[in-house]
Amino acid sequence: APTSRVTLTVNRKRHTVTIDNRTSLLDLLREHLGLTGSKKGCDAGACGACTVLADGHRVNSCLTLAVRLEGAEITTIEGLADGDRLHPLQQAFIDEDAFQCGYCTPGQIMSGIGCIQEGHTGSEEEIREWMSGNICRCGCYVKIVRAVERAAG
Ligand code: FES
Repeated sequence: APTSRVTLTVNRKRHTVTIDNRTSLLDLLREHLGLTGSKKGCDAGACGACTVLADGHRVNSCLTLAVRLEGAEITTIEGLADGDRLHPLQQAFIDEDAFQCGYCTPGQIMSGIGCIQEGHTGSEEEIREWMSGNICRCGCYVKIVRAVERAAG
């Protein structure tokens, strides 16, 4: 299969990898860089477990071809904490008890960061709408929305 060399920055660190052109960003992160915080739920754009930020915008990494991201800045759940200090939204998920099994949580948090950064926190409904692509099988939606509200201030 055709391959390409792609250079991108992940959590402030530059990486150059040679990949099959069909490789998703999710597989690049998980299998080439060993960053397994982003989860593969459906691998088809339906669950949001794989959500990361690419150049500051929320994307489903399972649907994003890695070769299209030459030069991009990617942020994953592993890149949020500052040493021992959690990102305010990570802390808010703990404070609001916004997870049970935790499988969807990295995607929920990355999506929530997109929500806050892009200013979609005007009302509970607006947050709920923004977060609607992130499925939680444990049904923690009420607390997830509260955590985003708390971190948004
Ligand atoms: Fe990407 Fe489900 S794994 S949306």
